[in-house]
Amino acid sequence: MRRAKISVIGAGNVGATCAHWAAAKELGDVVLLDIPDKVGVAQGKALDLLCCGPIERFDSMITGTSEYRDIAGSDVVIVTAGIPRKPGMSRDDLIQTNVKIVKSVSEQIREHAPESMVIVVSNPLDAMVYTAWKASGFPTNRIMGQAGCLDVARFRTFIAMELGCSVEDISALLLGGHGDDMVPLPRYTSVHGIPVTQLMSKEKLDACVDRAKVGGGEIVKLMGTSAYYAPASASVQMAEAIIRDKKRILPCAVYCDTQFDVGGYFVGVPCVIGAGGVEKIVEVELDGDEVRLMQESVSHVKDLVKIVREMFPELA
Ligand code: NAI
Ligand code: 2OP
Repeated sequence: MRRAKISVIGAGNVGATCAHWAAAKELGDVVLLDIPDKVGVAQGKALDLLCCGPIERFDSMITGTSEYRDIAGSDVVIVTAGIPRKPGMSRDDLIQTNVKIVKSVSEQIREHAPESMVIVVSNPLDAMVYTAWKASGFPTNRIMGQAGCLDVARFRTFIAMELGCSVEDISALLLGGHGDDMVPLPRYTSVHGIPVTQLMSKEKLDACVDRAKVGGGEIVKLMGTSAYYAPASASVQMAEAIIRDKKRILPCAVYCDTQFDVGGYFVGVPCVIGAGGVEKIVEVELDGDEVRLMQESVSHVKDLVKIVREMFPELA
């Protein structure tokens, strides 16, 4: 049987950790690509990870490179190239630098891995998925962004900590842009089927929502750079859903037209992820407040996309 192939663009903190999780899950062979100046880092990390195989019992081949021809035949490409934020920066502060990087990376993906599914991680996420879509010319089912899987994992973690129960029993849903902009849906959050609102006061639930919203910033303040274990785990969760055709319902940044009245932008919504990429968007009913928050979130995404279009009119 042919092994799947996952290419990770950017061999920094998130990229190398994606390679780690993908290998540990034996999802397939992994190519870790960085710029020519950092090819040694990509190759060194790949070799180091490869040598975990005998201990962790995976047979995945992991290689480092700076040559895009090595991503040929990839089933999934995860884009983590770009600068992360430093303390005091917002994700939006990264746009000027990262839009150039994501544009050039996406053009290379179009040329060398034209049949791949692309998972964008670089920030500001919702605008970078748009950039990758325009620059690659890929159909919308093959371009998606990772943000919701991370935000919802943070939310579930904080609820489980508050309730003193297993994270496995928390099921939650979020919509909208990444992090500070996300739209929490406590009505759709349950603890093994029990609505969370029956188990937790509104104040405590709001505190979990707020901590999940700024969860990325909390880690930036602690470490001086942005998170990577959970972001990489969330990205590989999406890659696994594609490679193993799991048809998971995951919150991902995907192209929404009429859905949720978004009007042609990439925003976080629940969708079915499988071998066909984004196979379906799952529309859930929203109440008045949720609709208002979603519209605010979409409006912020539109502002960011406007900056992308002003910088690169050909991406309009
Ligand atoms: P990092 O600085 O550790 O790694 C980024 C890597 O990208 C570097 O090795 C750099 O050389 C490489 N790179 C830069 N330009 C490139 C190009 N043209 N081609 C190939 N590689 C290139 O940063 P880290 O922590 O890995 O973060 C990466 C990105 O992911 C940042 O933009 C960060 O904000 C974002 N991020 C997004 C999350 C999400 O949930 N969507 C969560 C965490 C980080
Ligand atoms: C995070 O939420 C920085 O987007 C990154 O950790």
